[in-house]
Amino acid sequence: MEVLLSFLIVAALSVTFVDGAGYLQVRPPTLGQCYYEDINTAHFSYNRTFCEGPAYWCQIHICWITCGSNERQSPINIDTRKTQFRLLPMPKFYNLHKRVPATIRNTGHAPEFNVVQTKSNKDRIILSNVPGRPKDKKYVFAQLHVHFGRDETQGSEHCIDNIFKPMEAHLVFYDLDYGNLGDARSKKDGLVGLGVMVEVRGNPQKPTVCKNGRKCKPRFAKRFSDLMEKYYEQVRCFPLEQYRDYIHNDRFGFFRRRNSRSKKYCGGTLSQNYIQNRCKKDPDDNSLKVQVTEGLSPKDVLPYDTDLFYTYGGSLTTPPCYETVQWIVYKCPITVSSQAFNMLQFVEDSQKDELIKLGVRRPIQKNRKVTVYSSF
Ligand SMILES: *[C@@H]1O[C@H](CO)[C@@H](O)[C@H](O)[C@H]1NC(C)=O
Repeated sequence: MEVLLSFLIVAALSVTFVDGAGYLQVRPPTLGQCYYEDINTAHFSYNRTFCEGPAYWCQIHICWITCGSNERQSPINIDTRKTQFRLLPMPKFYNLHKRVPATIRNTGHAPEFNVVQTKSNKDRIILSNVPGRPKDKKYVFAQLHVHFGRDETQGSEHCIDNIFKPMEAHLVFYDLDYGNLGDARSKKDGLVGLGVMVEVRGNPQKPTVCKNGRKCKPRFAKRFSDLMEKYYEQVRCFPLEQYRDYIHNDRFGFFRRRNSRSKKYCGGTLSQNYIQNRCKKDPDDNSLKVQVTEGLSPKDVLPYDTDLFYTYGGSLTTPPCYETVQWIVYKCPITVSSQAFNMLQFVEDSQKDELIKLGVRRPIQKNRKVTVYSSF
């Protein structure tokens, strides 16, 4: 039914939105809210039947046209019959024993931990030896966030043989040469994403057995679980007042031509020049940030068996969906407390709805050809 519904919506769009002509007749009532002129106000949603939903992200703003690509969009189903075994380089961490200063904020889409960036490399957590990238390239640990679904058991973004886990944690690293996450994310090979499947303690779980028969060693990620419990609570309410000027105040931007251009260019590529000049949001310095006094380490989140992973060249899983991420998806999950999971589900989004209402995960993407390699 949902498939049929979205087909009908797509059909309606393509009939009525021919280059902006004649669109007023059959426009679904909510559609006017879904095109934005100003990148600072552009808004996406995880509501699949809404015109801001995942299937339409590429139409919302010209800077988001990459979301309509079918080259290397993420997340994907990792089909283990098709993955290719390679003796892959094992990612190497520097300073993994350190805890780096971090803050957490509610973006209006999800809570997000951000590492406070320091100038000196000795205080950074660095990743190198990344498969698919030059061996000595250095990537700096910058961000941690968690995806989950409306359906409690199907919340990870990636899935392995069509099996989802309740959550998926993403650790984001950027290429040191690009200076910061914001600049690196649009650049060729700018990012590395580590995906960790997350289960809920106490829920029935099947042991995860690997192709070679090895069982994953279960790991209760106590530290991560505690951080989730404590800090999701602190950023639970979305401070609408502070964002007022940025939310939905451009709802009639769709009258401008640029919006029909966006639809026409879905799946197209943006020049670096265009991205530099037109696609950078103003820094939102007044967004509420909470200090994470314990600091943060990827170790909080990593499973025991980090030698078992899949890797492929993919994209950001939220707009602008840049195809710049080397994904490393670990085979073995970690576990957090049910309280940690609850706290995440009840964080508010920018519409003041609880995240559980829509979930925070992009549907599986179909690409023309993406090769996934496995380390085992
Ligand atoms: C999703 O969007 C549709 C269309 O705007 C709306 O009717 C529905 O209530 C939304 N669903 C949720 C869960 O918000």
